[in-house]
Order: sequence, then structure tokens, then C-alpha cells
Amino acid sequence: MIPISLQDKVIVVTGGGTGLGRSMAETFIQCGARVAICGRRQNVVEEAAQALGPSARGYVCDVRSWESVSAFLSQVVADFGRLDAVVNNAAGNFLAASETLSPNAFRAVVEIVLMGTFHVSRWAGGYWIENRLPGNILNIVTTYTDTGCAFVLPSAAAKAGVQALTLTLAYEWAEYGIRVNAIAPGPFPTEGAWARLMPGPDFEKEYLRRLPTHRYGRKEELGALAAFLLSDLAPYLTGAVIPIDGAERLQGAMFNFLLQQYDREVLKGIFQRMKEATYRKD
Ligand code: HXC
Ligand code: NAP
Repeated sequence: MIPISLQDKVIVVTGGGTGLGRSMAETFIQCGARVAICGRRQNVVEEAAQALGPSARGYVCDVRSWESVSAFLSQVVADFGRLDAVVNNAAGNFLAASETLSPNAFRAVVEIVLMGTFHVSRWAGGYWIENRLPGNILNIVTTYTDTGCAFVLPSAAAKAGVQALTLTLAYEWAEYGIRVNAIAPGPFPTEGAWARLMPGPDFEKEYLRRLPTHRYGRKEELGALAAFLLSDLAPYLTGAVIPIDGAERLQGAMFNFLLQQYDREVLKGIFQRMKEATYRKD
């Protein structure tokens, strides 16, 4: 038996107050780590940190801002005395026909996903290199980074950028002992993703029918992979983008089937209603 240990490690999880970030944080703590989670909503990160227990602390940070990220990560180092890994998990996404997107809508997602990942990686990498410390960056992408995907243009573009960042930094920072990997999850139901990306029960039924495994991913399955990648069991594992999707990606990009099966104008109406249900509600 070789257990996955993250004993003594301090791990930052952006967007760790909800969904997959929160469940990864939970797994890291079970493996012995201490965890700093962040998000924009103070009540959400505080409640999550409290539920995660004494090994977790919650911080308000907006990853779109370099100043906010610098202040957050400096505070983490001050509070915990070290920083071993960052998980770039914070994201934004929604379904929209690309011809309806405003520049601001495109920018909103790119700034969270791509700029946010750059800010956190740049600060942490700079810290590790300056202090001659090893480091570990884990980025959360999607299965459509190589193919693009209908109705999620801002996310597809931003996540493809994060994939390029992953591969670039893995090579460039290997000699500093900094590993950089990405996980590409298939569908894992979370409140945040489902409210914005699952149009309703009929779509869901069809979506599940098409999945090769006919089931969604379970949070603990993702947590185990993330913990392994951040552990000392994987020192030679860098520059990898690992899908965990039950082979979902092999049937084609996640939302392309909507275009194949439904009327575009009907879809636009559904997307508008989804926008109204989620917009500024957070
Ligand atoms: C079209 C939309 C929109 C929508 C917002 N906008 N929602 N356009 N459809 N559903 C537009 C607004 O009209 C505005 O443009 C611009 O986007 C910015 O909106 P804000 O609300 O001011 O932005 P912000 O507060 O920064 O919110 C970002 C957000 C929001 C992405 C829009 O949904 C959010 O905070 N999301 C965080 C959580 C999240 O998305 N989780 C899901 C991740 S799941 P105008 O022109 O009007 O000013 C994921 C899974 C991928 O990534 C794989 C699939 C399974
Ligand atoms: P989620 O619960 O909505 O998580 C997104 C998190 O990011 C929230 O906690 C949100 O908190 C935070 N966030 C958004 N903008 C931020 C900002 N500017 N600064 C700091 N934090 C910010 O969705 P999820 O499903 O768990 O997604 C987690 C990750 O998995 C994302 O990278 C997503 O793309 C990826 N993913 C998910 C699936 C899936 O099926 N669920 C599939 C593929 C990939 P605030 O709003 O409070 O800031």
C-alpha cells in the first residue's frame, strides 16, 4: 500500500469555496495538507473554510486582479509560513450563442480563467524561484481545449490558453523544480456549473444517454487525481494534461450535440432564460 500523502504541504485552491474546488480542498486535507481557499464572496469562503475545519482558511481574492492575488498569496505565506502548491480552479462559464456575446461577456470569462491563472502562477512561480524552493501548479481545464466547443466560446478560448500556459511553464520552469500539470474534467455536477450549463431535464437525459459510461464523475475521483499530482509520488510528472471524463471527450465536444439536435432559435431562448436565472445572483 502506498498512500497519497500531502503531509505538511500548504496548498492554495482558487475558487475553493464551492463545487470541485471545495471538494479537492477536502481531499487534500484528508491527505494531511493545510489549505487556503479563495473566492470573491466572503460569506461563501468563510462558510466553506469553517466546514473544512482547522486545516483550512478562507480568503477573499479576485483572481482577475494582480493586486488582489499578490495580497492574498503574501498573506497565505505569512499565515502558514510556506506555500507548496497552487490549484487554479476558479472559473466562469455560461451557455451562449457566440453571435450574441458582448465583448464584456467574453472578457468576463477570459479574465477569470486565463488572466486569473496567469496571476496566481506568476506570483507563486516568482516566489518559488526567488526563494529557491520547489513548487507545484495544477490547472483545471476542460476536455474541449483541443477541439473548441459550441456555445462556450469564451471558456473554450480561455481554457485553451490555460492549457498553453501549462505546457509552456512546465518546460520553462522544470529546471527550478516547479511542476505544472492540468486536469481536464468531464462532467461533474456542481451547483455553479449546472445552473449555467445544463439547460434542463430533457437535455440532461439525452446527455447522460450519450456519455459512454452513462454517469457523471464523482468529486472524490477528481480529488484523488489532484492529490496524486500534488504529492511526492509524482516528481517526474510535469507538462501533462490529464482528462478524467469516462472517455466523454471521444464522442466530440461536450455541447456540440445541442447544435446537432435542437433548433438554434429555441436554444437561444433557453440560454437567455438561463442567463436571467444566474445573472448577478451570486
Ligand atoms: C450571456 C452573459 C451571461 C450569460 C453574464 N453575461 N452572464 N452573457 N449569457 N449567461 C454577460 C453580462 O451581460 C455582461 O456583459 C458580462 O457578461 C459580465 O457580466 P457580470 O455579471 O458583470 O460578470 P461577473 O460578475 O464577472 O460574472 C462572471 C460570470 C458569472 C462568468 C458571468 O456567471 C460568474 O461569476 N460565474 C462564476 C461561477 C461559474 O461560472 N461557474 C461555472 C464554472 S463551470 P454586458 O455586455 O451586459 O456588460 C465550468 C465547466 C466547464 O467552467 C465544463 C462543462 C461541464
Ligand atoms: P463553481 O462551483 O462555480 O466554481 C467556480 C469558483 O470560482 C467559485 O467558487 C467562484 O467563487 C470562483 N471564482 C469565480 N470568479 C472568481 C474570481 N474572479 N476570483 C476568485 N474566485 C472566482 O464551478 P465548478 O463546477 O466547481 O468548477 C470548478 C472548476 O472545474 C472550474 O475551473 C471549471 O471550469 C472546471 N470544470 C468543471 C466541470 C464540471 O463539470 N463541473 C467540468 C470541466 C471543468 P466566487 O463567485 O465567490 O468568486
